Amino acid sequence: ADNKVYRASTTAPVNIAVIKYWGKRDPKLNLPTNSSLSVTLSQSDLRTHTTASCSPSYPTSDSLLLNGSPQDVSGARTQACFRELRTLRQALEASKPSLPKLSTYPLKIVSENNFPTAAGLASSAAGFAALVRAIADLYELPATPTELSKIARQGSGSACRSLFGGYVGWDKGTAADGSDSVAYEVAPAAHWPAMRAVILVVSAAKKGVSSTTGMQTTVATSSLFPARANETVPRRMKEMETAVKAKDFETFARVTMKDSNSFHATCLDTEPPIFYLNDVSRAAIKVVEEVNKEAGKTVAAYTFDAGPNAVIYYLEESEKEVAGLFKAMLGEKEGWEGARGSKVEANKSAL
Ligand code: PMV
Repeated sequence: ADNKVYRASTTAPVNIAVIKYWGKRDPKLNLPTNSSLSVTLSQSDLRTHTTASCSPSYPTSDSLLLNGSPQDVSGARTQACFRELRTLRQALEASKPSLPKLSTYPLKIVSENNFPTAAGLASSAAGFAALVRAIADLYELPATPTELSKIARQGSGSACRSLFGGYVGWDKGTAADGSDSVAYEVAPAAHWPAMRAVILVVSAAKKGVSSTTGMQTTVATSSLFPARANETVPRRMKEMETAVKAKDFETFARVTMKDSNSFHATCLDTEPPIFYLNDVSRAAIKVVEEVNKEAGKTVAAYTFDAGPNAVIYYLEESEKEVAGLFKAMLGEKEGWEGARGSKVEANKSAL
């Protein structure tokens, strides 16, 4: 019998949206109500490393180990990724009968994050992107990152953007089957190498309201939401793409902050209201306002996902005034670097 073990390894980076995905028009396929845009963080700082293997000698069920702990793979999201990738492999095996029938073998996935999984950072994006690419490599699928983004999207919406580096858009698409809801490259990381990000870990606790539940409630109850999804975000997507292409940091920063605030405003407008920001998050916003005021121009931009941690974008030339001042000002605040939080610097190197 064939007892060979087939194996492939890959890494995928964490991405942080500057135009937020918030709202699903199809919760099963993770089809969004609006397009979004993210910046991929440097792989040396935040990434998931995943090895996918399969063998006829493995125990019968698929398995996933994350940082050494076994994970449940029976959920619909993970199952959708496995199923789609197996279907593509089956098609390949049907067209080339000499290929080993990897699609019939149990899968073993082993993932490691190079950052604390419990730190409240967006780890599912890098996790599903790495899982999908590792299996696609194992199966030797001739799939482009855009094609793989359709599969990763079904694992976690934001994961589709982690198939690319640099500046990445996710087109919401219009098709009911999700065939045009894909990620695309706006610009590679090398286009704007001066971009930096610092992550302020305000709380390492798991988020209070999951993104899936939060999105569904916001879509159903917020009266601000339709304007955000249908008017505000489409306009900002264009402004943001233009700003990235022109390396116009002031516009990039202003739109980033406005979009984060718009997203959190729809959360507050949800019934019952969702609060992701806390007092420390609001203090971070004040520091950014202060830094920009002192500089006489916009040199720093904050953004917050479904939790209190701040991501601050700035340019290399502003390292001292932004990262430096942040440390000095927030270091004095009680609990900033202690029981309530610690500081992670995400991009010492180029993004
Ligand atoms: O991919 P999800 O379901 O974890 O949702 C991510 C939602 C935000 O992080 C708040 C925004 C985004 O675009 O990443």
